[in-house]
Amino acid sequence: MKSKKIVLPFVCMFMMVLLSACGGKGEKTGDVPFAEVEKTETENMDKADVSVTENPKEDTGAEKGESGKILIAYFSRVGNTDFADDVDAVTSASLLVKDNRLYGNTQYVATLVQKAAGGDLFLIETKEKYPSDYDETDKQGEKENREKARPELASRVENLDEYSTVFLGFPNWYYDMPMAVYSFLEEHDLSGKTIIPFVTSGGSGFSDAISAMKELEPDADVVEDGFETTHSKVDEVTFDEVKAWVNGLGIEKK
Ligand SMILES: Cc1cc2nc3c(=O)[nH]c(=O)nc-3n(C[C@H](O)[C@H](O)[C@H](O)COP(=O)(O)O)c2cc1C
Repeated sequence: MKSKKIVLPFVCMFMMVLLSACGGKGEKTGDVPFAEVEKTETENMDKADVSVTENPKEDTGAEKGESGKILIAYFSRVGNTDFADDVDAVTSASLLVKDNRLYGNTQYVATLVQKAAGGDLFLIETKEKYPSDYDETDKQGEKENREKARPELASRVENLDEYSTVFLGFPNWYYDMPMAVYSFLEEHDLSGKTIIPFVTSGGSGFSDAISAMKELEPDADVVEDGFETTHSKVDEVTFDEVKAWVNGLGIEKK
């Protein structure tokens, strides 16, 4: 009797090894659904410590963008306006020339963020362009803000699931985000992602934009320590400054 008791566990173990060697679907570790991997890894633990993920599809992280890619989505007057070739970029508060290239202020900061953090740039672009005349754009921006308009966007981020971190840049328009950024946030579910805002302005900074962002994306982690600069200082923003801010966020460059 005593020897049977000793032999039985060994027979069971032998059977288990044999079955797993037979393989089939999920034979390579990489093919095993997440729930099963967790179960295997926790087999040797006390029963009370074992937690098996019920729904591997939801919890692998792939859908929430845990592949870790970085998106830099931004709105800027340049890219949303058809400027005449002889546009006066030098005296305009909203335009910047660097290395013979015309930039919008926010667009310029976006390029520095990309250089510092890596990732993909995405211009939040409206279907209808804004007037090339600054005052006309100002009037239109005021009207859109007053009417809580949602300008139609020209495109959307199709592979949103791949991103876990979204830098979101915009100019302050009427103590708020431009309404096109509301369109962007309403059309893109950023739940489970980290949103890192940056703003350029005439001096108002973020105003109430960060709390508006949190309301629109209640299941995202909105970083409060965003980057801000003014249109008169944007020319002096250096890569090192942006890099130091990005480094302080503790995100990995992909
Ligand atoms: C329609 C409109 C509204 C603006 N409202 C504000 C404002 O309320 N507060 C502020 O500080 N700057 C305001 N500005 C200035 C812009 O925020 C600033 O020039 C910004 O750097 C422009 O960025 P961009 O070149 O990327 O478009 C406004 C500009 C426009 C065109």
